[in-house]
Amino acid sequence: MILAPSLLSADFGNLERELRALEDAGLTWMHIDVMDGSFVPNITLGPPVIKRLRKCSRLFFDVHLMIVAPERLLAAFADAGADMLVVHAEACTHLDDTLREIRRLGIKAGAAVSPDTPVRALESVVPLLDSALVMSVHPGFGGQAFIPESLGKVRALRAMLRERGGQAVTAVDGGVDPDNTPDLVAAGAEVLVSGSAFFSRPPYAARLQDFLRAAATARPDPQHRRCGTDRDY
Ligand code: DX5
Ligand code: ZN
Repeated sequence: MILAPSLLSADFGNLERELRALEDAGLTWMHIDVMDGSFVPNITLGPPVIKRLRKCSRLFFDVHLMIVAPERLLAAFADAGADMLVVHAEACTHLDDTLREIRRLGIKAGAAVSPDTPVRALESVVPLLDSALVMSVHPGFGGQAFIPESLGKVRALRAMLRERGGQAVTAVDGGVDPDNTPDLVAAGAEVLVSGSAFFSRPPYAARLQDFLRAAATARPDPQHRRCGTDRDY
């Protein structure tokens, strides 16, 4: 399991210090939420900030683009230092072309589905995905409650990837905490994004251990087998 802290809940007045603290605490990923005030009702940051952060961090930059028509800005984010760009299925007119363009830029490509979008929206692009992300809250804000139906979507996504021979990691984002981590890992989540639950309880090294310990208690999911054979995505 990879824990990807969401920058949205970090101290925006001290981002450089935050990134260094995460690295020192043993984290390897940084989930960076980009919001445009249009696809979601909130605005965060863009390529110039990521470029500056890139200078002071070796963390893997997982950049979650919650913006309309992301194809306009892929090169700008890649140049800024993103290691992976995750676009929303709902925001792309031609999702396959957008994913191909990300790969052409030499970085990893991912796609996300919002809570009201079924995971089958990603079915035709499975071969183009390095990451497939289930949003377990409505995108736009940190600190929201986990939507329980997301567990079923994670299972369905794993089944779909297995059936289609996909290599993508299964990621989940929104309301993730050590309490729901065992169920998420059992359902097949491999990357857990956490904002408020992670940053609200420093020190970061100890908080990382809370999530890892929780993940280690995951029991095999009895629903796995059923989803491996049916097509409920
Ligand atoms: C929400 C963002 C999330 C958010 C998660 O739109 O995509 O990455 O930061 O924050 P928590 O863990 O607080 O739900
Ligand atoms: Zn996110």
